[in-house]
Amino acid sequence: MTSGGDAPGMNACVRAIVRSASSHRMLIQGIIRGYEGMINGDFQPMDSRTVANIIHRGGTILKTARSKDFRTKEGRQQAYEQLKVNHIDAVVAIGGDGTFTGADIFSEEFGIPFIGLPGTIDNDLYGTDYTIGFDTAVNTAIEAVDKIRDTADSHDRLFFIEVMGRDSGYIALYTGIGVGAGTIMLPETDTNYDELVDILKAGEKRKKLFNLIIVAEGNKTGGAYKIAEEVQKRYDHYETKVAVIGHLQRGGAPTAADRLLASRLGYGAVDALVNGERNVMVGIVNQQVVYTPLNEAITKEKKLIPELVKMSNVLAR
Ligand code: F6P
Repeated sequence: MTSGGDAPGMNACVRAIVRSASSHRMLIQGIIRGYEGMINGDFQPMDSRTVANIIHRGGTILKTARSKDFRTKEGRQQAYEQLKVNHIDAVVAIGGDGTFTGADIFSEEFGIPFIGLPGTIDNDLYGTDYTIGFDTAVNTAIEAVDKIRDTADSHDRLFFIEVMGRDSGYIALYTGIGVGAGTIMLPETDTNYDELVDILKAGEKRKKLFNLIIVAEGNKTGGAYKIAEEVQKRYDHYETKVAVIGHLQRGGAPTAADRLLASRLGYGAVDALVNGERNVMVGIVNQQVVYTPLNEAITKEKKLIPELVKMSNVLAR
């Protein structure tokens, strides 16, 4: 099943799981709409042919949801009964921390083994260098910002551009580095307006004509609109504009990197089941497939790479 926010590459991963499992002669059912489908018994038999022609498609053919009912004991009980009736012995779940938190509680309560696969554009899961969908989301954001750059440059304007990332600044950091942003505002760091205005003034002295500032959605002081408003108050001789890229980042054909990652992880999930692994997330660290217990994947924090934060500040000057 796919669960939580969709991410480009989920279909490539579903394809890899189904084809790898078929090669072991396993019987496979797709659960529709994540935990919602598990509760409602919405299952569909799958085989190699049902996953043909999807490797390049964004979204998820299995559909997805953020289930409220699965947070209740009654909902989970119903899900367990549906799994039993449908003879399901193990679940492979592609999703993020919400998905794995549910999986961890559920397998503790009912003993159903889970294999988790990191699928979220946020890249915020411990136990893997990258999550499925992150590379595509960053490429989409970079393409969008490149277009904004043309108009920002033509008008000598200051642009605040908001990218996704509720708790993690990975999308903002990679996008900011990729577009050569003047400043990157992350959820992990505090926004200091005076400091920001000083950076803009220093840029002006160096004859910097326009500025692109990347703001992560989860920035603690507020999103791009709030920051732009505050900066405009302190720095009013520059025309300020805001663009929120939003869900554009969640769609589209997965990049080569995401297709490869998704295929490796899907294949790795079936390998994990065959090797008797239970309740682990399959990730890739330094090109090697690694297993991390689900409760570690959700409780341990995946930190930003400090060297990249430092580098982005130097390269922006
Ligand atoms: O977790 C992925 C993500 O795209 C976050 O970056 C964003 O905050 C959130 O999902 C948005 O969720 P929804 O599509 O449910 O509004």
